[in-house]
Amino acid sequence: MSALPAARIVFEFGTTTQIVELDPDEVYIVGRGEDANPCVNEKSVSRRHLRITCDNDGWLLENISNTSGIQHKRRMLQTLRPEHGEAFSLGRVKCTFAEHGKFLGAQEGADINIDQDLMATETIDSDDSETDAAKTQVVEPPPQPLVYCPVCGTKVQIIDFVSIEDLNCPTCRAHIGRLAVRHLDASGIYDSILLTSKPTDKGSTLSIGEYRITEELGAGGMGKVFKGFEPGSNQVAAVKLLYPNKTTAAFIQSFENEARALARLFHKNIVKIYRFGKHGNVHYIAMEFVRGTNVKKQIKDNRRLTIDKCTEILRQSLVGLDYIHKQQIIHNDVKPSNILVAEDGTVKLVDFGIVQLSGPVDQDKRAHVAGTVEYLSPEVVQGGSPTFQSDLYALGITLYFMLCGRRPFKGQTPKDTLIMHLEKTADHPSHHRGVPDELIAILARLMAKDLKHRYQTATQVLDDLDSIDLGHSLDRATLQMGKKWKK
Ligand SMILES: Nc1ncnc2c1ncn2[C@@H]1O[C@H](COP(=O)(O)OP(=O)(O)O)[C@@H](O)[C@H]1O
Ligand SMILES: [Mg+2]
Repeated sequence: MSALPAARIVFEFGTTTQIVELDPDEVYIVGRGEDANPCVNEKSVSRRHLRITCDNDGWLLENISNTSGIQHKRRMLQTLRPEHGEAFSLGRVKCTFAEHGKFLGAQEGADINIDQDLMATETIDSDDSETDAAKTQVVEPPPQPLVYCPVCGTKVQIIDFVSIEDLNCPTCRAHIGRLAVRHLDASGIYDSILLTSKPTDKGSTLSIGEYRITEELGAGGMGKVFKGFEPGSNQVAAVKLLYPNKTTAAFIQSFENEARALARLFHKNIVKIYRFGKHGNVHYIAMEFVRGTNVKKQIKDNRRLTIDKCTEILRQSLVGLDYIHKQQIIHNDVKPSNILVAEDGTVKLVDFGIVQLSGPVDQDKRAHVAGTVEYLSPEVVQGGSPTFQSDLYALGITLYFMLCGRRPFKGQTPKDTLIMHLEKTADHPSHHRGVPDELIAILARLMAKDLKHRYQTATQVLDDLDSIDLGHSLDRATLQMGKKWKK
C-alpha cells in the first residue's frame, strides 16, 4: 500500500489564485473569511462549506454547510473523493485538486463548468445576511506574497509552497514562472527569500544557503525539510529550515552550539550534520540525506512491522543513542519520525537536541513547542531536565508504537497525554499480538515511570537484547519489570 499522499487544492476566485497544501494528518475546514474569500482552517472562518480529511481510501471532501454543496460535473454532491486534476466549485470559487508532486497541467481545472442553474439557486448559507454584491466582491487580501502574470497582469497569491513547479496564470494560462515560493503565514517564512531569480525566469532555482533545493521531503513542528545539493561539490544534503517564529535568539544560540558539537561526531547510526547557517531571516541546518523512510511513515504505509524488524530498529537506535550519550549529548526528541531507515536497513537518528534547547518551558508551552507530547518522560513532564534516561523512555514509547501500531498514551488534549505519562499504566502489548515475553520485559523497563526502575544506559538495554540472541536469561531487574506488567 502506498503512503497517504499529501495534496493541494487550488482555489480560484476573482482574479486571485490561492494554493493550499494539505497534510494527510490534518483536518481542514474550508469556509469564507470576513472578506468573503475562501479561508482554510482559520479560527475566524464563517460560513463553513467543506471538511477535508484523508483516510485509507484517500482524500475525502464533505459538504458541511446546510444550504450549499460541492458542485461537480453539473451535480450538487455531499461528498467527493477527488482525483488528481479534478475540478469542482464551492459557490463562485473554482477549486482544483492536485496530488502531491504531480504537476497540474495548464488545461486541468481550466474549464470548470459551473451549472448556471446551480449558480442561480446557490446560497452560500441562508443565515448569512450579506448581500449578493458583497458575496461576489473580491476584497484585497492581506499583504501576502503575490506574483503578477507577465502577460495579463492577473494577481496570483501564493499561500503555500509550490516546490519548483511551473505555475500558469489562472486567467490566460501564460507561464508565470517556476515558483518556489512559500508564504508560511503562521510560520513567518516570507515570499521570495528562497528564489535565486525572478519568478518569471523559467530557469529560476530555489536555494537555501549554498544548497540548490530539488524537492520537499516533509514538514515537522520546528521546520520544513528539503532535499538539495551543493553545486560546487555536488554533495547531496537534507536541508531543514527552522520556522522563524518558533525560534528565539537563545534557541538559535544553543542550537548552534549543539550543531557544532554534532558536526564533529561521526557514527553510522547518527545523521551527520554538514552545516548550520542563515538565509534571509531563516535558519537552516544542512545534513546527510538519508534515502529511505522514517519509522512513522513505515508504520503508516505497512500498518505493522514484524517483531524482528522492530527489534532491529530498536537495536540500531540504541547503538546510536549509546554513542551520543557517551559524548554527553542527549537526543531529547526520540520519536518514530526522527528514526530514519535507509534503503539498506541502516537506522539513523536525526533531529538532536532541538526541543531541549528551547529552554525550560511549562507543560502547555512544551506541548506547543514539541508539537507532540506522546514521547515525553514523566520526569520531564514534571519539569525535570531531560536526561539520557528520558531518551530511553522515549525509545520505549517508540518501541511500543512499533509493536502495537499505536501510542500507549494519547489523551484528548496534550495535557491529558502528559497526565497519562505520570499516572496511567499502558495496555499490555500482548493485547495486540504475540510479542515475546523477553521483549515485553525490555519494553516495561524502558517505559518505567520511576527512574530507579528504568534502564540507566543504552548499553544495559543492548546487553539484554544480546541475552535474547544468545539464549541467556535477561537482567534480573528487567525480568522483574516484565512480571509487574499485568496482562
Ligand atoms: N536527513 C534527512 N534525510 C532524509 N529525510 C529527512 C532527513 N531529515 C528529515 N527528513 C524527513 O523530513 C520530514 C520532516 O522532518 P521534521 O521536520 O524533522 O519533522 P518530524 O520529525 O516531526 O516528522 C520527515 O519525513 C523526515 O523523515
Ligand atoms: Mg524530525
